[in-house]
Amino acid sequence: MSEHIRLQKYLAQCGIASRRKAETFIAAGRIRVDGKVVVDMGSKIDPLRQRVSFDGKPVKKEEEKVYILLNKPKGYVTTLSDPQGRPIVTTLIKDISARLFPVGRLDIDTEGALILTNDGDFAQRIQHPSFEVTKTYEALVSGFPSKTDLQALERGILLEGKMTAPASMKLLKSTSRSSLVNIIIHEGRKRQVKKMFQAIGHPVIDLKRLAYGRLQLGKLPRGGYRSLTPKDLNKIFKNIPLQKEK
Ligand code: URA
Repeated sequence: MSEHIRLQKYLAQCGIASRRKAETFIAAGRIRVDGKVVVDMGSKIDPLRQRVSFDGKPVKKEEEKVYILLNKPKGYVTTLSDPQGRPIVTTLIKDISARLFPVGRLDIDTEGALILTNDGDFAQRIQHPSFEVTKTYEALVSGFPSKTDLQALERGILLEGKMTAPASMKLLKSTSRSSLVNIIIHEGRKRQVKKMFQAIGHPVIDLKRLAYGRLQLGKLPRGGYRSLTPKDLNKIFKNIPLQKEK
């Protein structure tokens, strides 16, 4: 249902000026509603249906910024639509009306930490190479990668004609068939972890993202999510230092 509110109140909500100052703009004939100058102080508008402008520029209410951390389950795609009709991550977020999009990508068969937001600038900052936001993964890989293999991945290897940036690799445990490796990288090339391990002959069997910077996935259940606090958001930009070259 739409609601009518006083024009000066709407202008203040949109960050144009205080209500009192907005009244002076109305009186000066600088505000138009649906293209017509409105000078009547008692005017009310329906923000959902009417267009308001100030000195000819559209006035819009800022959408509240929303930041969510989701534990993405396998089987979901991180695009906003899928021609193949596969399940989409945003359908897991039930009680939030903001139009959210995922920050970066996770493969359909990868699970773990995925941030969703409606804040485009923030999403761009996380992904911009200059911020070097670290992403931590845990990968189950086939076989037993040697120390030399892992050191090569740490220093950087040639992948599709371009060296990968320095990374951190820690072998957590091994069985006769597979090994569990903790990986910290700050690049986000498509299928990067899988390609790195493919390149050393130890393909990834299972992949999970555990953290963005120092923001950990923690105990969120699969498919579960929570809102991020300003403190959480700061943690994203606090990077985990990579291991020193040995
Ligand atoms: N690297 C991959 O290979 N896949 C992902 O989903 C994320 C990082």
